[in-house]
Amino acid sequence: MPQETIAIAADHAGVELKSLLKAELATMGWNVLDLGTQGPASVDYPDFADAVAKALAQGRATRGVLVCGTGIGMSIAANRHRHVRAAVCADETGARLAREHNDANVLALGARLIGPEVAKDCLKVFLATPFAGGRHVPRVAKLG
Ligand code: RB5
Repeated sequence: MPQETIAIAADHAGVELKSLLKAELATMGWNVLDLGTQGPASVDYPDFADAVAKALAQGRATRGVLVCGTGIGMSIAANRHRHVRAAVCADETGARLAREHNDANVLALGARLIGPEVAKDCLKVFLATPFAGGRHVPRVAKLG
C-alpha cells in the first residue's frame, strides 16, 4: 500500500512490538508516522491513543496501530474519539472481521498476550482486508 501513511504508537508495554511492526510496515511500503513512546519508561496509554486519533482526524494518516500490554486500554481510549473504530485483535480472523464488518480504522494489539508473529499476521490481514459494505453500512453508521 505505497504512499499511504499509518500512524503507530505504543506505551512502555508495547514499545518493543511497535519497533518490530514499524519495520514490517516499512517493508510493506507504508509510510509510518511513529507517535511514540520511544523507550521503556512508564507512560500512560491514553496519551498515545489520543495522538493516533488526532493524526487520523488531521488527515496525517489513514490507519492506526496501537500497542499496549493487552490492547484493551488503547482500544478503550481510542474509541472515545467518534472518528475512530479501534479493534483489539488476537488472531487473523478477528483482524479480518474487524475490517469486513466493522470497517475498523485502528488495530489494537496486546504485546503481553500475543507473540510477534501473530501480531504481524494480524497487521497484514487488517491492512489487506476491505470493508465488506452491504448490510454492514447502516450498522457502522450507527456507531458514529
Ligand atoms: C501497562 O502496565 C498496561 O496497563 C497497559 O499496557 C495496558 O495493557 C492497558 O490496557
